Amino acid sequence: MEPVRLERHGPIAVIVVDHPPVNALSHPVRAGLLGAILEADADRGIAAIVVHGAGKNFIAGADIRELEQTPRAPLLNDVLMRLESCSKPVVAALHGAVLGGGLETALACHYRCATPDARLGLPEVKLGLLPGAGGTQRLPRLIGAKRALEMMVSGEPIGREEALALGLVDRPLPEGDPLAGAMEYARELVAQGAPPRRVREKPLPEPLPDEKFFAEFRRSLPRSARRSAAVDRIVQCVEAARSLAFEEGLALSRQLFEECRASDESAALRHLFFAERSASRSGGGSPREVRSVCVVGAGTMGSGIAAACAMHGLQLALVDREQGALESGMARLRSAVESAAKRGRLDEGGAAAVLERVTTARNLDAARDADLVIEAVYENLALKQEVFRQLDGICRPGTVLATNTSTLDVDAIASATRRPQDVLGMHFFSPAHVMRLLEIVRGRATSPDSLATALAVGKRIGKLGVVVGNCFGFVGNRMLYAYGRENQLMMLEGVPPERIDAVLEEWGMAMGPNAVGDLAGLDVGYRVRRERRDLPDDPRYFRVFDLLAELGRYGRKTGRGVYLYEGEKRERRPDPEVRELIRAEAARLGVAQREVSDAEIVERCIYALINEGARILEEGIASTAADIDVIWCNGYGFPRTRGGPMFHADRLGLTTVLDGIRRFAREQGERYWQPAPLLVRLAAEGKTFGAWRRAADAAD
Ligand code: 3HC
Repeated sequence: MEPVRLERHGPIAVIVVDHPPVNALSHPVRAGLLGAILEADADRGIAAIVVHGAGKNFIAGADIRELEQTPRAPLLNDVLMRLESCSKPVVAALHGAVLGGGLETALACHYRCATPDARLGLPEVKLGLLPGAGGTQRLPRLIGAKRALEMMVSGEPIGREEALALGLVDRPLPEGDPLAGAMEYARELVAQGAPPRRVREKPLPEPLPDEKFFAEFRRSLPRSARRSAAVDRIVQCVEAARSLAFEEGLALSRQLFEECRASDESAALRHLFFAERSASRSGGGSPREVRSVCVVGAGTMGSGIAAACAMHGLQLALVDREQGALESGMARLRSAVESAAKRGRLDEGGAAAVLERVTTARNLDAARDADLVIEAVYENLALKQEVFRQLDGICRPGTVLATNTSTLDVDAIASATRRPQDVLGMHFFSPAHVMRLLEIVRGRATSPDSLATALAVGKRIGKLGVVVGNCFGFVGNRMLYAYGRENQLMMLEGVPPERIDAVLEEWGMAMGPNAVGDLAGLDVGYRVRRERRDLPDDPRYFRVFDLLAELGRYGRKTGRGVYLYEGEKRERRPDPEVRELIRAEAARLGVAQREVSDAEIVERCIYALINEGARILEEGIASTAADIDVIWCNGYGFPRTRGGPMFHADRLGLTTVLDGIRRFAREQGERYWQPAPLLVRLAAEGKTFGAWRRAADAAD
């Protein structure tokens, strides 16, 4: 079927864009649109034109896959110039996603009407782009420079009501398909003799923004936005809208769009767009229906998981043996729900309706009716096995039994039951009701249906689920150990912890490894390491964190960890005492002090991460390199603009990474710098992690 068709309803022509799943503006759509516009405009029997998107959305923007290639004519800009030039009124019938090139299409129409579900936005910046089809020139002319800049720089869409208030939408339509209402609107416009109304002909609304306005806007941006080349170019385009004629501003925005499209930043963000969508696919199983969830353990993780489930419509039983723990868990859950309600994040009924779905119990019998049980007790294998042994005797057949563990062996936990096919890991990240990432751990016997169930529940409660294999630390934490190891060694070599953090934060990590350690609590890792039997026989291994934990310096929660947290704001401050402690420990261990460059700090941490990622990939713990990228960008603060560790490695070139690892092997010894066999092979063959598939998967 043609992706664009022209329908005639008496004097009204309807141009229908019908290009599932989201009516993206791929080449055939642009060509079809142009043809339909020319035909409708030339037809004397047509008095007005309606542009409509079939399905649930108007148009979700340019086809992101096509952005990999050089654009092919007709370009969207030219199509929209022609649309706007139409000699009869053109009405946009807006509903669902009106995003990116979709909103730019709406802006080139003369009148806009929308149903209540319409979401209007220019999210290009999230792909490292700027609105390249006139959005930077038309939106400020319609709603003013300030609000237009805010929309383009945040990339966040707005709802129909706000759009009406801003004058971005002219007429509200009732719920449902917008077409009937839009045709009615078009007929009224014809009856009134309403003229075509072209945004490009409007001057920028008063008061005109001056140079000071733009300088202040730039200054007010958060650090991450100030570093984004796309954001900088968006501001440049709006400055041009103030001083240049429309066509000149449009030409500039087109040129800057092309620069963005060719940038590493945009390639990385486009990679993540698709990686995040393919990560949460089920891999063949059928999800079981889940209406009720039982969370066992009302600690920080348990109450956060419970809050996430209840806030997304699931019946929730929270179980803890200790009355005190149950009460404080419920207090945390209540406060999470209330703060979500305040931010308008809850559906109908608000906090009261969510809390009505929650029951508490001191006894595991409460798990009897649950479709899914998520155990979140203390991170101790014997304790978790005991909980699973009991659940096995209590739960209905077919109930999915999940353990929220960050490091323990899921198979060992499953072996405590007679139904290992129903057992898996659901590794949430703290705070569990906020963090999006969810590692779903496949045990040896886990069935595809159980995995699909966990993925479906994850999606329902707003998480980005990624299926991973079972090994110590799974994907995220196992790689974190490799990355953290280099941080520890460099501290012993005399690099101050705050310098390592500053260098890595400058490189783009959301937080340096020492600040992260303090936030998570140095005691947590310390206890995990005491339980591990497979640690390297190396007294330097995580010695700095262990030493601080032994001294009761657990991090933020004790006011002292690697850093000091004092004063009202409890901001992190370097502690000279810690430097001294590290120096003395290095002397005791005989670690020589040396100069380490900023480049070495980055390379040692990031190459260690990549090398471990390569092993994880080859072992099948991650299914694809893209899954690793999704995990690190969503759970560990890896800069999205670098696309994740494996994408970054591909961009650097695997030979560069391998050379770096070999250099460190020469300088530091081979113990930690054995290159992963997959890295060696791919580098020799000139290939990438991104394109690599295990032989078995490639054959599917
Ligand atoms: N191009 C290509 N494919 C797209 C797409 C786009 N713009 N938007 C969505 N898709 C695909 C997804 O990859 C997914 O494919 P899959 O089923 O094969 O995985 C499918 O459409 C459905 O998408 P979602 O899973 O995300 O579905 P949701 O219903 O959850 O969300 C959405 C729908 C809100 C439209 C969301 O997909 C979205 O935000 N899309 C991106 C919008 C965007 O960024 N537009 C700007 C593009 S750049 C641009 O327009 C440049 C212009 O200025 C010139």
